[in-house]
Amino acid sequence: MTRNPSKSAACVLGVLWGDEGKGKIIDVLAQDADVVARYGGGHNAGHTLVWRGERLVLHLIPSGILRPQVLNVIGNGVVVDPFHLRNELEGLVAKGVEVRLGTNLLVSERAPLILPLHRALDQVAEHVRGAGRIGTTGRGIGPAYADRANRSGLRVGDLIRPQRLAAGLEHLLAEKNPVLKAFGLPPIEAGPLAEDLLRIGEGLGAAVADTGAVLRRALRDGRRVYFEGAQGVLLDVDHGTYPFVTSSSASSGGVAIGSGVPPAAIQRVVGVVKAYATRVGEGPFPSELADATGERLRVAGREYGSTTGRPRRCGWFDAVACRYSVDVAGITELVVTNLDVLRGFDPIRVAVAYQVAGRRVTEFPAFDLDEVRPEYQDLPGFQEDITGVRRFADLPAAAQRYIETLEGLAGVRVGLISVGPAREQVIWR
Ligand code: IMP
Repeated sequence: MTRNPSKSAACVLGVLWGDEGKGKIIDVLAQDADVVARYGGGHNAGHTLVWRGERLVLHLIPSGILRPQVLNVIGNGVVVDPFHLRNELEGLVAKGVEVRLGTNLLVSERAPLILPLHRALDQVAEHVRGAGRIGTTGRGIGPAYADRANRSGLRVGDLIRPQRLAAGLEHLLAEKNPVLKAFGLPPIEAGPLAEDLLRIGEGLGAAVADTGAVLRRALRDGRRVYFEGAQGVLLDVDHGTYPFVTSSSASSGGVAIGSGVPPAAIQRVVGVVKAYATRVGEGPFPSELADATGERLRVAGREYGSTTGRPRRCGWFDAVACRYSVDVAGITELVVTNLDVLRGFDPIRVAVAYQVAGRRVTEFPAFDLDEVRPEYQDLPGFQEDITGVRRFADLPAAAQRYIETLEGLAGVRVGLISVGPAREQVIWR
């Protein structure tokens, strides 16, 4: 892997359903970064990093925050829960992370707000869906994006404009309070909410900015910019496993929309993929292992959601899904994480095609994914502890062959392999 050429940016995103370990990878890549920007999602994301020996989970703050030279940007495509943002900032400061508002952290004035009513409506919608529920994180993500599309939502810039905030809130509550009432929930009072929001706005102060202009200038000046994806390509609202997706454009197409830079600026798309597959929430997962092997993967990989604590569903690497994401997102290189977790699994299986209604398909379908049966290729496993390995040539032959097989199936090179949670536990190729 090389440094970013100037005037162009790299996007780092999850290849399947998120939780691939992007946080650590961004933190590793941020060694040479000038800017790390989030372009979508909200605090439904959970990016886990290890810092000074401690586990740190970031939800809204970009993963470059631990590198003092990096400017961190929350782009206009990110839905911002201001209460959560305040709490996350306070938590980081309490841990000794240096957060300088307006200097190493900016928040787009255009970013839509998640308000408490969105959280309530998210939970109501899930309740109404019953057995067909999506398994959302319950953070209000979908309803906040819906209000953006509906042009009734408020934005971060309103937090520092009392009159606009009051008028916008009045309009929004006139629309939403009857809905809350219909579901037996208490209506929301504008006055106290506006006061809380204005206080948070005051606290954010200089961090509220025209981040699109800042990012475009950074690119013009030849700075190294990384766009940090949230979730993964298969959770993209358009290209994912709809309706079991999140409500934003998680794929690389979301970068231009969610940050205000032109699409052509994105020349490198780094896809982060686990050495096996996981998913939280509901929805199709062809290579899922609902058996003892799946449970073994969950325990070995500590596969519990970093935002909700839910056990993640586990399964084998799915090359059909991976290839689709590589195509859709224009992934130029892959990072494979959690390779160490596969120690002792023999054989290691990879889904290479699907059987559907007696036919073999190698394209990832938009519908009827529940009905496909994966066809596997078996590869030899390895028994060695690889968490201390730092060179590809020092990996056991079976682990090398596994990576090379994934590369062949995905059609792109694996440039970096992660073999443990710490920054140092990586193998560059
Ligand atoms: P929402 O984004 O809370 O609306 O949830 C929609 C779907 O996306 C659910 O299946 C969630 O579990 C999933 N999801 C949202 N954010 C993440 C993430 O950061 N990692 C993995 N899954 C996520």
